[in-house]
Amino acid sequence: MSRIDTKPQTPSKRVFIKTYGCQMNVYDSDRMADALAPHGYAPTQQIADADLVLLNTCHIREKASEKVFSELGRLKELQGEKRAMGGDLMIGVAGCVAQAEGEEIARRAPVVDLVFGPQAYHRLPVMLEQAAARRHLHPSLKRAVVDTDFPEEDKFAHLPAARREVTLARGLTAFLTVQEGCDKFCSFCVVPYTRGAEVSRPVAQVLDEARRLVDAGVREITLLGQNVNAYHGLDAAGRDVGLGELAHLLAEISGLERLRYTTSHPRDMDDALIAAHRDLPLLMPYLHLPVQSGSDRILKAMNRKHTRAQYLALIERIRTARPDMALSGDFIVGFPGETDADFEDTLAIIREVGYASAYSFKYSTRPGTPGASLDGQVDEAVKTERLHRLQDLVAGQMQAFNASMVGRTLPVLIERPGREPGQLGGRSPYLQAVHFDGPAELIGAIHPVEIVGISTNSLEGRLAGSVAA
Ligand code: 5AD
Ligand code: SF4
Repeated sequence: MSRIDTKPQTPSKRVFIKTYGCQMNVYDSDRMADALAPHGYAPTQQIADADLVLLNTCHIREKASEKVFSELGRLKELQGEKRAMGGDLMIGVAGCVAQAEGEEIARRAPVVDLVFGPQAYHRLPVMLEQAAARRHLHPSLKRAVVDTDFPEEDKFAHLPAARREVTLARGLTAFLTVQEGCDKFCSFCVVPYTRGAEVSRPVAQVLDEARRLVDAGVREITLLGQNVNAYHGLDAAGRDVGLGELAHLLAEISGLERLRYTTSHPRDMDDALIAAHRDLPLLMPYLHLPVQSGSDRILKAMNRKHTRAQYLALIERIRTARPDMALSGDFIVGFPGETDADFEDTLAIIREVGYASAYSFKYSTRPGTPGASLDGQVDEAVKTERLHRLQDLVAGQMQAFNASMVGRTLPVLIERPGREPGQLGGRSPYLQAVHFDGPAELIGAIHPVEIVGISTNSLEGRLAGSVAA
């Protein structure tokens, strides 16, 4: 595999990357930092120290999208302050807003030097050089460098790997993007337009990256994809490998203790993947499987390509394979045409499934999606009221799920010191945060912890001797 030379230069510049949106953006922000490291940029958490600020943006809902422009206003001020002190600041907009709006961003916010989409991260060093050259032009001639192409080449093959120490500093858990894009075209969603068609990384590339993460101390990997369970990567023989089989291959990596994946579409939950949940102890019993609505009428209008009954039957099959599977979901309230009865169907499906956690959103009209031109847009006040009712229901379920852990002993991946001195923090198999007292040497281990209580968003535990199911 071709790789850019990753020998680090002595860092002379600082980059501050602000990440909005989903975990894929978190992964991408780290890849951008890795791409910049060989060019003398070290990451900083202090925006005031930065020579370069990159906003890795999200376009999924209007609110997320608009945040970028208010942040650019603040950055313009910071740039002015720095220039007054004889310094400077370069500003780049990356991610899905950049992909969707391209040149328009530079027109609305001339302070921006670079606009580039998720498929162009490996070209970041070159774009920076171009942007730096343009800085010497008269302001009337200065234009941002814009790159929102979907290139032929494989960006992953051109992105440098993180150095071992960098991976280690990022923690014991890591994201690994295996799939990008979406072919599902849910009628509310911009992703198929911003991230393009479904593409899977080749098996060897995924295994290679996973091994490198594990060698650097990572114990848990979360495979990422906009439609991760639609993964169909090719192996060395050119054979199509699905996510279930990929999980089996990853399970062979010695030192990898836990595997998760997100986000999945119900239609792509195939038998092999469900069987992997039965057969592979490292595949954690927590699954994010959005249904969006519990009403067949709305599911159809959303173009989800499945019914309520099919979703419930699928949950049944998954729970047969892995009885302790905890589920999480996404819900949209106030999709065009959603009546009180449709909304009641959504509450009913939530009661029927019983979620360990859920994300819920008011429908946000996205230009260019089929949903934007549907009749029956729902009143904002109605959306707000429905969202509150749904969130109350889910909060109760989450509380009950957490409470059901009290008295059990769970294997906890111990990740970091806790908030209080002498405390440690980690995660249960069900992705719950767990806090307990213990020695720092245990960080990195999976250790049994007896759950003795719950607080708002986490479990309280005490170190135990053995793990009971
Ligand atoms: N409005 C509200 N929520 C949306 N989502 C996607 N598009 C929209 C939209 N236009 C939600 C879905 C999806 C999650 C990532 O964001 O629930 O699963
Ligand atoms: Fe968007 Fe639907 Fe694709 Fe998920 S499956 S990314 S909600 S279009």
